[in-house]
Amino acid sequence: MKVLYLNGPNLNMLGIREPTIYGALTLKQIEHQVQEKAQELGIQIEFRQSNHEGSLIDWIHEASGIFDAIILNAGAYTHTSIAIRDAVSSIKVPVVEIHLSNVHAREEFRKKSFIAPVCAGVIAGFGAESYTLALIAVSGLLAKQHH
Ligand code: DQA
Repeated sequence: MKVLYLNGPNLNMLGIREPTIYGALTLKQIEHQVQEKAQELGIQIEFRQSNHEGSLIDWIHEASGIFDAIILNAGAYTHTSIAIRDAVSSIKVPVVEIHLSNVHAREEFRKKSFIAPVCAGVIAGFGAESYTLALIAVSGLLAKQHH
């Protein structure tokens, strides 16, 4: 089982960026935490990050036939990108939307996700834990599919 983690704009700045909102861990450190959980669950993971909408879209398309699921933190594109939503709709691979912060407890503009309606589910507000919780969710989802 292979799961692709896609991280959108500004997530390369984790650790430095607004630590009171996003936590003190870097994306690399989060990846290491997730790696431990992945080994426990017998899942192979790959982490990618881009500040470019088009790169995220290309990676979503290319995941078909290679990855069993995508865990997507689209960053601010969550609230703006119809193009990423359409990319998610264009593949059969299930996508789980995640956020470090509880987007519903913040500014009004963060409450709207263009991507959530075409996702299998959403996990938000648990900091770096959101990344591992999504992996647990995905492993359950895929186990159900294979029955
Ligand atoms: C985020 C929430 C978004 O609103 C924000 O633009 C981000 C990070 C999160 O993980 O909490 O870049 O996706």
